[in-house]
Amino acid sequence: MSHPPPPTPLTRILITAGPTHEPIDSVRFIGNRSSGRMGCALADEAARRGWSATLLLGPAPALPTDSRVRVRRFRTCEDLRGLLREEFGNTDVLVMAAAVADYRPKIDPAMWNGKFRRHSTNLTLELEPTPDLLAEISTSRKPGQLLIGFALEPRGELVASALAKLDRKGVDLVVGNPLETMDSPDIEATLFAKGGTSTPAPKMSKDAFAAWLMDRIVPMASSAKVSS
Ligand code: CTP
Repeated sequence: MSHPPPPTPLTRILITAGPTHEPIDSVRFIGNRSSGRMGCALADEAARRGWSATLLLGPAPALPTDSRVRVRRFRTCEDLRGLLREEFGNTDVLVMAAAVADYRPKIDPAMWNGKFRRHSTNLTLELEPTPDLLAEISTSRKPGQLLIGFALEPRGELVASALAKLDRKGVDLVVGNPLETMDSPDIEATLFAKGGTSTPAPKMSKDAFAAWLMDRIVPMASSAKVSS
């Protein structure tokens, strides 16, 4: 008696999206204008293609529309770091679209539940660097895992900086896009790959770009799985 072939395991994609909010005190934060749209569009597109999609979503207005997307929320860089550590081992493809803060207020833990008061003198806020989550997680990658970062850049610095990030963050692809992409419905991106090739995409909506990017990730994800 012949048995049916075992089902092909679903490709598991982990996507991060949105800004981080780094607390100043219990009611204030430092954040950025990231809408989370790009990451939500990617998660929807992956789910539509039958992939198992998990979205780590910051405090952003956007939400995925496909109910098959599993969503976990974060607020700070440190929250996201914890979620990445939990999820990364069970992931085939990681896409870091989140706009993670590079600096956070260095505050006295007493202020976590308190509030800065108004005084007539200047107030200086000390900032400390956050860990580079993508560079950190890429050091624990296993064979077959595909890593993709984003690079938000002033136009004149895009190529050099995206290529430097490919190396520095230990990823396979970097989606370079100009600063105007943040909080916009559209994206004008160039995809940079390890080895130096670059593929410009026409300016398009973030939904359309999600499909464009998935068309390029799919063959890379299957060959990464086969060779691992
Ligand atoms: N990133 C990260 N952890 C951080 C900052 C950024 O994992 N603390 C990730 C982003 O999710 C993105 C990539 O790194 O995938 C590039 O982010 P970007 O803000 O363009 O670059 P930075 O690393 O912040 O470097 P720079 O400030 O020099 O542009």
